[in-house]
Amino acid sequence: MKREQWGTRAGFILAAVGSAIGLGNIWRFPYMAYENGGGAFFIPYLFAMLTAGIPFMIMEFSLGHKLRGAAPRAFSKLGVKLEWLGWFQVFIAAVIAVYYVAVIGWAISYMGFAFTQSWGADTNAFFFSEYLKLGDNAPSKLGSLQLHIAIPMVIAWCITFAAIFTGVKGGIERASKIMMPLLFIMVLALIARVIFLEGAMDGLNYLFRPDFTKILDAKVWSAAYGQIFFTLSVGFAIMIAYSSYLPEKSDISNNAFMTVLINCGFSIVAGILIFSVLGYMAQEQSKPLTDVVSAGVGLAFVTIPAAINLLPAPYILGPVFFLALVVAGLSSHISILEAVTSAVMDKLNWSRKKASTVVCGSGFVISMAFATNGGLLLLDLVDYFINNVALLTSCLIELLVIGWLLKVSDIRAYVNKISEFSIGIWFEICIRFISPIMLAIILGKNLINTVDQGYGGYAMSDLLILGWGLVAVMFIAAVIINVKSLPQNGSEV
Ligand code: ALA
Repeated sequence: MKREQWGTRAGFILAAVGSAIGLGNIWRFPYMAYENGGGAFFIPYLFAMLTAGIPFMIMEFSLGHKLRGAAPRAFSKLGVKLEWLGWFQVFIAAVIAVYYVAVIGWAISYMGFAFTQSWGADTNAFFFSEYLKLGDNAPSKLGSLQLHIAIPMVIAWCITFAAIFTGVKGGIERASKIMMPLLFIMVLALIARVIFLEGAMDGLNYLFRPDFTKILDAKVWSAAYGQIFFTLSVGFAIMIAYSSYLPEKSDISNNAFMTVLINCGFSIVAGILIFSVLGYMAQEQSKPLTDVVSAGVGLAFVTIPAAINLLPAPYILGPVFFLALVVAGLSSHISILEAVTSAVMDKLNWSRKKASTVVCGSGFVISMAFATNGGLLLLDLVDYFINNVALLTSCLIELLVIGWLLKVSDIRAYVNKISEFSIGIWFEICIRFISPIMLAIILGKNLINTVDQGYGGYAMSDLLILGWGLVAVMFIAAVIINVKSLPQNGSEV
């Protein structure tokens, strides 16, 4: 079967940027920056972007382009029996896909609520009690299916499925060409309005004022690295799959730089948007900014609705904000599912239509676990283990394999042969030394902390089964697939 291809270079870049820009930028980045020292967070963040983000993107673009396969096939072709690493990454993508869609579903609901601000004055009680209907649940005690959460998730699944089913050029590329410009226009229009609100500058000062006492804190560095991998969609099979559809004559280094810089620039823009609104809100309520900000999920679904209540023309700005969140989320969700679909197509020789139907169909069924009373808790627990344990482990192994088992200089030579500009020895230094050392320290600390202190106050049995157990099952399943397929891979290399 001839491999599909992107129609244009712009189409590929928009799709890669569409994958990178997602809930991670609008929902996660602003709070991460705020919590980890405001302006001081930018130092580890930019360091992680330069030493890990850019080299990783170049490395994954060249692996996909050179080896012409989704992650498992690409790694198996490296000739060191590494198909399992590709499958481990595909499983990370699959798990992210089933909870990510829940947040998109909430955003779809909130887009509707925003027209009349039907969340009322107490946005906290509305989100947790009325919308999620969270009671005395736990990640392993989910309660019942909530149709009002499941229906918007079905809408999100239909859009993702339509894009993947239709194919790389006609579906994913076309969707990205509509979604990305729309997203940029919406976010810029929102900023143009909120930046002039009273108090907006105080919000920005808060975001950008460095708190240097935090810079020596390992947690801040861990947050920065975790955020970079998640936001750039590297280490979980996506960028390898996307770049495997590049035509033979393609640039690598310039495309990688553009994708990273547009994504990280967008994160800062989203931070400006959110903190202008929070500054305004603090000023309206005569409270310090720290009192109006809430953490993680709460920022987008509790604090922002409360801020929208106070905005001029909330019935326009509110729906536009949540539509931006939905669009950003969907373009990433499409890429996460494509990473899984393309791996299945490679492995089983299935048609795109069959693979996308089976992958999205099973994903849809599993994702319903997150449309229950306790769905938020399950999401929180799984998200923590996927990002802090599985994803960082996958990235570290990928770096060690490419940097130490194989010849990273070959990758650099390959990139320089086909790219618009050459990359220097810094690329090899980052892949072989700086990034693995940083990642090993961060991952080690995360593992020790999680073993010692658990996470989020959840019961040990939940952590063991849904956290550690899930990661272990993903790993074992990846190894089993690899062992079973070794003979035919041998002949492929
Ligand atoms: N890169 C995507 C995001 O940031 C997954 O949401």
